[in-house]
Amino acid sequence: MTASRIVALGHYQPPKILTNDDLSAMVDTDDQWIRSRVGIRARHIAEDETLVDLATSAAQKALARAGVTPDQIDLVAVATCTALERSPNTAAAVAARLGIPTPAAYDLNTVCSGFSYALATADHAIRAGAATRALVIGAERMSDIVDWTDRTTCVIFADGAGAAVLEAVPDDRAGIGPVVWGSDPEKNEAVVISGWQPIISQQGQTVFRWATTQVAPLARQACEKAGLDPSELRGFVAHQANLRIIDAIAGKLGLAEDAVIARDVIESGNTSAASIPLALSKLVERGELHSGDPVLLFGFGGGLAWAGQVVRCP
Ligand code: UT7
Repeated sequence: MTASRIVALGHYQPPKILTNDDLSAMVDTDDQWIRSRVGIRARHIAEDETLVDLATSAAQKALARAGVTPDQIDLVAVATCTALERSPNTAAAVAARLGIPTPAAYDLNTVCSGFSYALATADHAIRAGAATRALVIGAERMSDIVDWTDRTTCVIFADGAGAAVLEAVPDDRAGIGPVVWGSDPEKNEAVVISGWQPIISQQGQTVFRWATTQVAPLARQACEKAGLDPSELRGFVAHQANLRIIDAIAGKLGLAEDAVIARDVIESGNTSAASIPLALSKLVERGELHSGDPVLLFGFGGGLAWAGQVVRCP
């Protein structure tokens, strides 16, 4: 039986940093409110770079680290909710930029859970024999869909991208565990991105309450499906929406004391589908997580959709 594993990761953030003090000069907010309610200190905002630029830069790093050439990739999946073009989709545009000859190329939009959804679909394609090497990217230019006069959202969202190269391996070396995914259609208006020039709005407290009560049991299911107790995890990378949410879920999971908990939201803000691969790639790059370490990924948000799985670090 065939399975898949992550061979390498890469990430990219645009150089421009917007601090809480910068935002205080734009809307009625302050550093203290943002730090205490959300945990964010700064975020990266794209200027000239397009969504495809962000995704391509992250993918190039992942490919270089994997030692994989573009012609070896046969599937490209991009998780994003900020594609301005309907066609070509982001995956096709990234494939063209990278010179990937004939990949299956698709975008997937489940907003903030998008990376875990895309990772699962690529893993399933490899398991089904429909692909052998895949590029899975989470990329967002949230700055395109933020109302910069709305203090309830403009202090939260940011831009960035993270990418993973996947390859087929024998089942006993599987690096990507079974996905736990779903949605609550009754809460589908908790996060809305709509309009001719789409703008994001959210019922923050609805998502906050849902995430702090519902994610831990679902995350435990993902561990169970991977045959692990949460105490055996080396790391936990949740969607980087809010430091208080991350710490509340981590506290309920019963992680080992020395488990690494991703808190990239502090430096990067909420980059929706990019937040998980961005945070994971940084932890591996900094040597805080090592090859083979089991790490729980868990995304949640618009939809209200969720997805999570245990992966082994490259
Ligand atoms: O990634 C997609 C999924 N989304 C999430 O996971 C978001 C989950 N929710 C959250 O992270 C939090 O609910 C927020 C960070 C969005 C909001 O924090 P909160 O503690 O739930 O604040 P709140 O919405 O209850 O607002 C409290 C107060 C309000 O003022 P009043 O009505 O109490 O006078 C807001 O108007 O804070 C005010 N407020 C602000 N004040 C200063 C809202 N935004 C700001 C701001 N600066 N930027």
